[in-house]
Amino acid sequence: MKHLLELRSLTVDQINAILERAEYFQQNHATITPTLQKFFVANLFFEPSTRTRFSFEMAERRLGAEVLNFAEVSSSRVKGETIYDTIKTLESMGVDAAVIRTTENNLLNDLQEKVNLRLINAGAGHREHPTQALLDVLTMKEQFGQIEGLTVGIIGDITHSRVAGSHMHLIPRLGAKLMLAGAEGMVERPLDPIPDGIQLSTVDDIVKEADVVMMLRIQHERHTRLMQMSVNEYHQEYGLTLDRAKRMKPNAVIMHPAPINRGVEIDTNLVEAENSLINRQVRNGLFTRMAVLEILLKGDKNEQLFDTRRSGGEFCTV
Ligand code: CP
Repeated sequence: MKHLLELRSLTVDQINAILERAEYFQQNHATITPTLQKFFVANLFFEPSTRTRFSFEMAERRLGAEVLNFAEVSSSRVKGETIYDTIKTLESMGVDAAVIRTTENNLLNDLQEKVNLRLINAGAGHREHPTQALLDVLTMKEQFGQIEGLTVGIIGDITHSRVAGSHMHLIPRLGAKLMLAGAEGMVERPLDPIPDGIQLSTVDDIVKEADVVMMLRIQHERHTRLMQMSVNEYHQEYGLTLDRAKRMKPNAVIMHPAPINRGVEIDTNLVEAENSLINRQVRNGLFTRMAVLEILLKGDKNEQLFDTRRSGGEFCTV
């Protein structure tokens, strides 16, 4: 695993290796060894971000890496330099990894064969957001003990969601059932077909059946047409209202990758409800990103993976 571009191209063993290492960090965060000292990591966010950007930076610092933050407006991008030339420039200076958020679906795939530094997808267009999906399943595992056998329902703007794009290739492969629902025009994925076995459903059926009800924001920045519905109509028809939340199964939980639009896809009182894991998702983002950085930079130069069971949690390859 040279880069982390998308979950669809990882094996289940590789996914589990990342999750196991993230779990190790989750359980031992007070005594982390700075395994990435002398590694340089550059964060290049060509689209706004709060959680992903800061948790990657925290993960890099917790592991002792040297952190370089790129600001597009004060870079030579404004003089017409391409992203490829920007990355090659950083690589020539000795940067070891680039964490990239982009509006483009295929930019990272196009770059992967042309660069030697490690590329990490921090959210690409509406295609994939692999570290978000990994931190989501880490949170589900923390809550339920295992992913296998769970029913996960994702409700919202599936069409434009890179989180949904990653989960389509993650949740079913870990043995859970995935259900999707959204407003008309927000469920189809014309450029990225939904794999067989994923159930297209309704909001109310997901609320009734799912162990995990994951709400998504409407990704207005990726819409080409204005929505015809008012915010209140959307909330009543497709949102997690207080009334719907009462119909969830007794042990079911609420998740959301955030940012949240309170009162649109979710009632404001549910964001921090007892059965909401939303803040735990953010916390687990740090551990997941630490695992990804460490595995890419130190863990598998020869396609090897961590085995935290054998090593008792110390860094090793198998
Ligand atoms: N979930 C997520 O990617 O949030 P940010 O856009 O704040 O990074």
